[in-house]
Amino acid sequence: MNSLPIGLFDSGVGGLTVLKALRQTLPCEDVLYLGDTARLPYGTKSPDTIIRYAVQAAGKLVERGVKMLVIACNTASSVAIEPLQRAFPDIPVVGVVKPGATASCRASETGRIVVLATESTIRGNAYQRAIHDLRPEAQVTGLPCPLFVPLAEEGWTGGELVEGIIARYLDPLFASPLDAAAANRPDTVVLGCTHFPLLASAIRNVVGNGVHIVDSAETTAMEVKTMLTEQGLLQPEQQCGSTRFLTTDDVSRFARTGSAFLGLAIDVETVELVDL
Ligand code: DGL
Repeated sequence: MNSLPIGLFDSGVGGLTVLKALRQTLPCEDVLYLGDTARLPYGTKSPDTIIRYAVQAAGKLVERGVKMLVIACNTASSVAIEPLQRAFPDIPVVGVVKPGATASCRASETGRIVVLATESTIRGNAYQRAIHDLRPEAQVTGLPCPLFVPLAEEGWTGGELVEGIIARYLDPLFASPLDAAAANRPDTVVLGCTHFPLLASAIRNVVGNGVHIVDSAETTAMEVKTMLTEQGLLQPEQQCGSTRFLTTDDVSRFARTGSAFLGLAIDVETVELVDL
């Protein structure tokens, strides 16, 4: 069991931001990543569809043999974690929502937190619930930012146009010129979508320096490490873990667009086309 890979899945290449953090935290582990690019986006779909897709994607990883499942997609984590835990009771299943909520509660001084995510993640309320479990007094605002996903996929991560779009979403919360409004200004922004870390510096330019920007990738990687350690499932020491990829659509496009999210070139030979 220990020498099996960790399985991660996402609706596409966005979850590679989680894989990047996982590789840094657990460099000895083998990883199998599935990006369901044929059915992206999950973020605009209904809960029933997201659950069905998530169970199929996770099922493919389990069929290949993985010792743990990481839901590297905020939308699937917020809507499908419980169905996935029920469907795969023999292995630990970790999502990105709880670690992201924990990180935001640690960062925020005022308890005024805004979660930026897809429509389905915000509608599912999982971040809001997870934050309130930790800080019942927190004032949490959920803000769907659907246009950020195609921007990040297109590699448009900065510049006037991108900051203009970000400001269009965030200005109602951050741009009030009145001092009185500052009392309600969030002090923490949660990047509650796999794609949004790529836009972090543009978001920083819009919200200014006094605001914490929290991303769940690192805290999720720490949670995976803790869980594998507690369950005695860590990979016996080896030099360097391998990473392999499965995708449900064009392998070359996966390798090309995924490289920006992983921060490393993806060798197309390591990507396999699968059907779910
Ligand atoms: N991976 C999704 C998430 O983190 C974003 C892309 C999508 O909508 O599928 O919510």
